[in-house]
Amino acid sequence: MDIEAIIRNMTVEEKIRLLAGASFWSTHAVERLGIPSVVLTDGPHGLRLSGSDETGDILANAKPATAFPIEAAMAATWNERLVEEAGRTIAEECQHYGVGILLGPGVNGKRSPLGGRNFEYYSEDPYLSGRMGSAFVRGVQSGGVGTSVKHFVANEQETNRMVVSSEVDERTLREIYLLPFEMIVKDAQPWTIMCAYNKVNGTQMANHDGLLNGVLKNEWGFEGLVMSDWGAVEDKTASVRCGLDLEMPGPGARDAEVLEAYRNGLVTDEQLDDHVRRILGVIQKIAASKRDVPALEADRHHEVARKVAEEAIVLLKNEGGLLPLAKGANIAVLGKFAEIPRFQGGGSSHMNPAKLDIPLDALSAFAHTVYGAGYADESPDEELIEEAAELAKGKDAVIVFVGTTEKIESEGYDRADIGLPESHLRLIEAVARVNPNVAVVTHSGSAIDLRPFERSVRAIVHAWLPGQAGGSAIANILFGETNPSGKLSETFPLALEHNPSYLSFPGDIASVRYSEGIFVGYRYYDTKKLDVLYPFGHGLSYTEFQYANLRLSADRLENGGTLQVTFDVTNRGARAGKEVAQVYVRDIKASVPKPDKELKGFAKIGLAPGETKTVTVELDERAFSHYCPHLRRFAVETGVFAILVGSSSRDIRLSATVFFHSGDETRLPLTPDHSLKEWLEDDRSASRIREALRNANVDEASPLFPILLGMPVRKLRLLFPALEGLSAAAAE
Ligand code: BGC
Repeated sequence: MDIEAIIRNMTVEEKIRLLAGASFWSTHAVERLGIPSVVLTDGPHGLRLSGSDETGDILANAKPATAFPIEAAMAATWNERLVEEAGRTIAEECQHYGVGILLGPGVNGKRSPLGGRNFEYYSEDPYLSGRMGSAFVRGVQSGGVGTSVKHFVANEQETNRMVVSSEVDERTLREIYLLPFEMIVKDAQPWTIMCAYNKVNGTQMANHDGLLNGVLKNEWGFEGLVMSDWGAVEDKTASVRCGLDLEMPGPGARDAEVLEAYRNGLVTDEQLDDHVRRILGVIQKIAASKRDVPALEADRHHEVARKVAEEAIVLLKNEGGLLPLAKGANIAVLGKFAEIPRFQGGGSSHMNPAKLDIPLDALSAFAHTVYGAGYADESPDEELIEEAAELAKGKDAVIVFVGTTEKIESEGYDRADIGLPESHLRLIEAVARVNPNVAVVTHSGSAIDLRPFERSVRAIVHAWLPGQAGGSAIANILFGETNPSGKLSETFPLALEHNPSYLSFPGDIASVRYSEGIFVGYRYYDTKKLDVLYPFGHGLSYTEFQYANLRLSADRLENGGTLQVTFDVTNRGARAGKEVAQVYVRDIKASVPKPDKELKGFAKIGLAPGETKTVTVELDERAFSHYCPHLRRFAVETGVFAILVGSSSRDIRLSATVFFHSGDETRLPLTPDHSLKEWLEDDRSASRIREALRNANVDEASPLFPILLGMPVRKLRLLFPALEGLSAAAAE
């Protein structure tokens, strides 16, 4: 396809037509010029291809496809290779069904555990989200299928998502909410990006010139196409002018409006051609990498989904080594989710799984099991609870399945609280009273409140919404076939009220203020030194890992330099296992507010019993920087940084420091409104100001002096004419 020749041959009407979908799930073909239509559909946990192209009923007769663990779980694997493999597998299914673009991954943030789509997003940490999202995009696109990284940007809630304005300061936007998109655009070149429904600082994302044309396309060099979320375009002409390439869904009804705008000079040839070039570029890639995949290899794909689920499951607690359970033991399996698996969230990512493992069946392959449903719905059923407690008596161990219900976690609305259903809590309570060996398997896509039973059970295994192979993955973990290696991709706080967004989530119909700024998740809890239930990065293993010998490649860094952080990890136990070693950076003293620590690198390492591996994680300049609004870029402030290596954000095993000598001037110039103290403490002005004070015979030992220190130099001069020289010095 010679795209430039095609553009030259297209009429204005043909170009405009291409800027909207042809149907709910496809783009327009231009047969005259040999341009095919492409199919796009959801994503991100597998392919949800609706049986009907004409309707918005996304669940109608969806084709069977492999349901992978939710994104939050994928992130909990901290295993990029595995996530990439999941992406490649999904791409194969897309090829089989003739889908050109998979609508995902979602990389929005997690301001609040209440976010209805948190399950569909990776992490509260933007760096982890960026790494996982890049891996997923690489995987899918290596299979010749495009991705659509969504929802660009600041779409952290479902409440009012179509109208609300997310009010975010620039530093927060850059460091927290734009970062995953930036990393993925630069590292993995996604073919498409999906813009969000919401407004950002008052402007609809579908026509946000500054973020679409400015940041995404010009600054980051994004070469793919930007499509709208389904129905996000309000003002089509503005969208065309501001960088939105493709309006979805179709068929577009506003071609005449755009044509008129074009005739009036509001939309230029250059703008139209740029949109068409981007759309054709993606269509060309899809057409060129189309493969014939005659059959779905459902069994093999199921195995990939199982591997991901196993690495995603997080062993939160294992008192006295209750787990792994002995094969052949007598076990009570309780809770309806053991029989009717809780494996995916609701909304556009809801799939029709090609296969489905039943936890109870998988557990029964390892042990003698009895089963009781324990609950039917969210309100307690005394009979079921009693029956379950009876079954639990005298068993070697009891496994209770609990979690959020389908109704609780879905696209379209936020959660009301982080509690589990009353019926689930009552079941655990009753069972824990009659058997000391209770292991609880929890299902949810985001943080839940485990406190009601945390102390009365010996083991807790967080299984997320683990996809279609979750049942066997859970059994393999519980019986030690697989050593758990998942680590939390978000904090489980002690209380919802501790969450930094608690007072400003979800805002009102007009706006939501991101008042916690950059202090999201552990960035807040760790800085505030608040206890949490389970910290970010936490996850136990059936073996133990020891960290030693931290060495840094340099003790001094400059702009453009990189730092190799090297350390040894040893498996001290008797089982093979995998550890996620996390590298955090702490800015010891900064002129702007900074979190206690921030994740800047990690590695997942497999170790045989007794084995030691040397791990190197590289940190570049960006790892030490913050976004400097007045420089309009990321910059490093000269100073000492601590490098913290650990097994979770609250389990730091090794640390060292490095001095970064930066050429960036991250500080704003001082003004006459700044205080005398600030002028004196600033090395750019200290000597001048000191001299001016000397000239005015100011006695720094006088009891009055601390009062002067707090005053703006502009006022000092007005109050004390002798200090005239001071404001002159400050003005220089
Ligand atoms: C969702 C998107 C999804 C699209 C198509 C929208 O409502 O926000 O994530 O890709 O629908 O189903």
